[in-house]
Amino acid sequence: MGRKFFVGGNWKCNGTNDEVKKIVSTLNGVEVPSEDVVEIVVSPPFVFLPLVKSLLRSDFQTAAQNCWVRKGGAFTGEVSAEMLVNLGIPWVILGHSERRLLLNESNEFVGDKVTYALSRGLKVIACVGETLEQRESGSTMAVVSQQTKAIADQVSNWTNVVLAYEPVWAIGTGKVATPAQAQEVHSELRKCLQQNVGGEVAASTRIIYGGSVNGANCKELAAQPDIDGFLVGGASLKPEFVDIIKAAT
Ligand code: G3H
Repeated sequence: MGRKFFVGGNWKCNGTNDEVKKIVSTLNGVEVPSEDVVEIVVSPPFVFLPLVKSLLRSDFQTAAQNCWVRKGGAFTGEVSAEMLVNLGIPWVILGHSERRLLLNESNEFVGDKVTYALSRGLKVIACVGETLEQRESGSTMAVVSQQTKAIADQVSNWTNVVLAYEPVWAIGTGKVATPAQAQEVHSELRKCLQQNVGGEVAASTRIIYGGSVNGANCKELAAQPDIDGFLVGGASLKPEFVDIIKAAT
């Protein structure tokens, strides 16, 4: 079976109660390709998850933007995988570069988080990506392979994992990777999965692109053979998110 197109909207640390209701109401009113064609997941901040889940149309799913590395307990400020499961939130984003870089989340820590979240029944959008310095020094593939391998070392069943390639230099900068740049890394990531997990997982795992995706550039990116969808930041807060969803067809 082919890889179903996947579009995630990462709202990051944005929104008020009213703004969130407005975004959901816009999404609820739009026509999008059927669930057979595209899987759509929106990821509001933790505090809005129950509200969004209660208002959002049933063919769209929800994701948290993070969760704790193991069972909850005395970990002030953290939210556990068990809590997300308890709320009926099916997805979680882990390893986003904003957390890797600003909060010093290491490859191993992200690998541990992915493993624990999967073990609790969550589906995971696992993010990898290089900084501008790393790209300019020619270490892009080494960096994203190490990040992916740290997950693959612990996870053999990738059914519930979507891998998101998000070059840090493209996030929130308006400087999107060219389709050729993104395709090159996606294809290498697939090889990395083949070497570290196996051919079947490499062929079936969705690898999505994130970093300044918008309504104007999504079609050309989506046409690349190894780009299976998007993780969208800024544009997911705007009506053009729908145009990005429609890149699935
Ligand atoms: O998770 C989403 C990415 O960080 C992309 O953000 O679309 O605002 O560049 P962006």
